[in-house]
Amino acid sequence: MGRSKQPAWKLTSLGRTLTYHLHEYDVQVRTDQIYQALDSLEICSDDAVLDVGCSDGQTLLATARYSSGLIMGVDADLEALRLAPVFKAMHSPGKKLPPWVAQGSAYRLPFSNYQFDRVICQVTLQYLYAKRVLAEMHLVMQYGGRAYLRVTSLMGGLRRIPNTTSHLRAK
Ligand SMILES: C[S@@+](CC[C@H](N)C(=O)[O-])C[C@H]1O[C@@H](n2cnc3c(N)ncnc32)[C@H](O)[C@@H]1O
Repeated sequence: MGRSKQPAWKLTSLGRTLTYHLHEYDVQVRTDQIYQALDSLEICSDDAVLDVGCSDGQTLLATARYSSGLIMGVDADLEALRLAPVFKAMHSPGKKLPPWVAQGSAYRLPFSNYQFDRVICQVTLQYLYAKRVLAEMHLVMQYGGRAYLRVTSLMGGLRRIPNTTSHLRAK
């Protein structure tokens, strides 16, 4: 038995990045999973929503179905953020729609206190010092705001924190 042949081509770094983001777009915007999570957040039609660690904004594209208020994402990775308008155009061709994304750190969210009614943070907290990030989220959230937090375990399996949809009451 001969060894299986390797393909003669190899993806460039940009190719790998695009493959990853297209896959995430497929998973997050076209499957039910994200809508179950967003349903549990009980987003109102004019709620301001922030996604911390929004990457290319795919979760926010799904969120824009729920609210016509401010839909905003923040991420440290400029390369991912640069893809956000591409996915937005792919998702809603010809329309000037949210989400809007900004480069920034989850450790110092570039927003005013109490600016958001809902906060989302998926598969990001486990890479960060969660206590500090949660404190930042707390600051930018309205009284009675809600957060959806999802982490993956260090073993790579998906695990939802038991109280992911519990209320994170601002001061
Ligand atoms: C695994 S990705 C998850 C992306 C997206 N939330 C999702 O569900 O697919 C983690 C994201 O956290 C971002 N990130 C890491 N450290 C950060 C920080 N200090 N501030 C803001 N974003 C950060 C990364 O750039 C990356 O886009």
